[in-house]
Amino acid sequence: MLKDSDRIFTNLYGMYDRSLAGAKARGAWDGTADLIGKGRDWIVQEMKDSGLRGRGGAGFPTGLKWSFMPKESDGRPAYLVVNADESEPGTCKDREIMRHDPHTLIEGCLIASFAMNAHVCYIYIRGEYIREREALQAAIDAAYDDGLLGPNAAGSGWDFDLYVAHGAGAYICGEETALLESLEGKKGMPRMKPPFPAGAGLYGCPTTVNNVESIAVVPTILRRGASWFAGFGRPNNAGTKLFAISGHVNRPCVVEEEMSITFRELIDRHCGGIRGGWDNLKAVIPGGSSVPLLPGRIMQDEAIMDFDWLREQKSGLGTAAVIVMDQSTDVIKAIWRLAAFYKHESCGQCTPCREGTGWMMRVMERLVKGDAEPAEIDMLLDVTKQVEGHTICALGDAAAWPIQGLIRHFRHEIEDRIAHKRGGRIAAE
Ligand code: NAI
Ligand code: SF4
Repeated sequence: MLKDSDRIFTNLYGMYDRSLAGAKARGAWDGTADLIGKGRDWIVQEMKDSGLRGRGGAGFPTGLKWSFMPKESDGRPAYLVVNADESEPGTCKDREIMRHDPHTLIEGCLIASFAMNAHVCYIYIRGEYIREREALQAAIDAAYDDGLLGPNAAGSGWDFDLYVAHGAGAYICGEETALLESLEGKKGMPRMKPPFPAGAGLYGCPTTVNNVESIAVVPTILRRGASWFAGFGRPNNAGTKLFAISGHVNRPCVVEEEMSITFRELIDRHCGGIRGGWDNLKAVIPGGSSVPLLPGRIMQDEAIMDFDWLREQKSGLGTAAVIVMDQSTDVIKAIWRLAAFYKHESCGQCTPCREGTGWMMRVMERLVKGDAEPAEIDMLLDVTKQVEGHTICALGDAAAWPIQGLIRHFRHEIEDRIAHKRGGRIAAE
C-alpha cells in the first residue's frame, strides 16, 4: 500500500490549500531551476529510467516519446500539448489534478517543455470541465505573477508561455491528432499516423502530446529520483497511479495507489468493499470504457491492476477508470450503452467505424431486448473483427472491444435472453 509520504498528489480525501502558497508548502516549485539546470539529456534519461508509461490510456513509455523530439531546432518551433480532454466514460482522474493540484501540472509543463525544446505549451481541456478550467487558469495567473512562467520562468533562464484551450465537448478531440486539428481551429478529425506528432504535429511542427497525469508526476519523479518511482509496481508497470473507481462499491473515489495493487485491496481499502459483499460482484471494466469487461470471478481472485496483468486477461489498464458492476447489473444493456456512445462519437471519417458502430449498436439493441436469432451473436462478433484494426484511429477498436468482452464472458446470458425472449428495456422506450 502507498504511504502518505509517497503520494505525488494531495490526499484526495482531505481538505487543503490549493493556492500557490499551499502548493509550495507541499513541495511544488522547489528547486525547479536546479532541475532544469541539469539539462535536457539528464531529464529525458531520468524519465526513461523511471519507467513511467503514459497515463492517458495507451501506456506508451513517456521518456521514449520525449526522445523522439528533435534535439536541436531545425527552424520550426517545438510544442508540448497536454491532453486534458478527459472524456473516456468512467474516467475523472485528471479532473482531480486540475481542480486540486494544478501546480503539479503547471510545473511539469515547464520542465517537460524545456526537455523538449518548447517555449510554448497548450493545455487542451475538455469542454465540460468549466470549473477545472477556471481553477487551472487561476493557478496559471498566479504562477505568472510569481515569475514562475513567462520570461526566465522560475529563474531557469528558459522563456516559457502556457495557454489553456477549451474544447467543445467532442470525445474524438481526445485522440491526439484530432486534438491538434481542433487546436489549429479545424474540425476535430484524426489524422493518419505516421507521421507521429514528434515529426509533424501542431502546425506541422515537432510536438509531443502527453496526458495530464503523465506531466503532473514529472517534477516529483525528478526531485525524488527515477529509482524511487521505479520502485513501485512490478517491472514494466512502474510507479504510483490514480485510480477512478465508480459503480457498485460502497464509496466511489479517485485515489492514488501503487501500480500493481490487487483489485481486492484497492476496493477494500479505499471504497469500503463491493456493495452487498464480494459474492455480489458480477463484472468489472478495469480501465475505462475502451477496454473489455472482465467477470467478477477473475477480478476477485488476486487480479493485479497493471498494464501487463490486465492485458494477459485480454483487457487493459487503460485510463485506470474502474467501473464495478454487481449482480443487479444488466451487463448486456451496459455494453449496449457504450455501443450507443461510440456510434454517437464516431467522427464518420472512415467507413468501418462510421457504418460499423451503427451496425453494432443496432444488434446490441436487439440483444438487450432478447429479440434476435442465436446466430446473430457470432455475426456481431464477426463485425467487431471487421472494425478492429481497420480504422484511422483507436475509436473503432474501442467500439469493438467491449462487445468482444461481453460475448467472451457473458455469452450464456445473451443466449438465455434470446431463448426466453426475456428482454430488457432501453432508455427511449
Ligand atoms: P497509441 O498506442 O496509438 O499511441 C499512444 C502514444 O504513443 C501516442 O502519443 C502516439 O503518438 C505514441 N506512439 C505510438 N507509437 C509510436 C511510434 N511508433 N512512434 C512515435 N510515437 C508513437 O494510442 P492512442 O490512440 O493515442 O490512445 C488510445 C488509448 O487512449 C486507449 O487505449 C484508451 O485507453 C485511451 N483513451 C483515453 C481517453 C481519456 O479520456 N483519457 C479517451 C479515449 C481513449
Ligand atoms: Fe473517425 Fe471512427 Fe475513423 Fe476514428 S475510427 S477516424 S472516429 S471514423
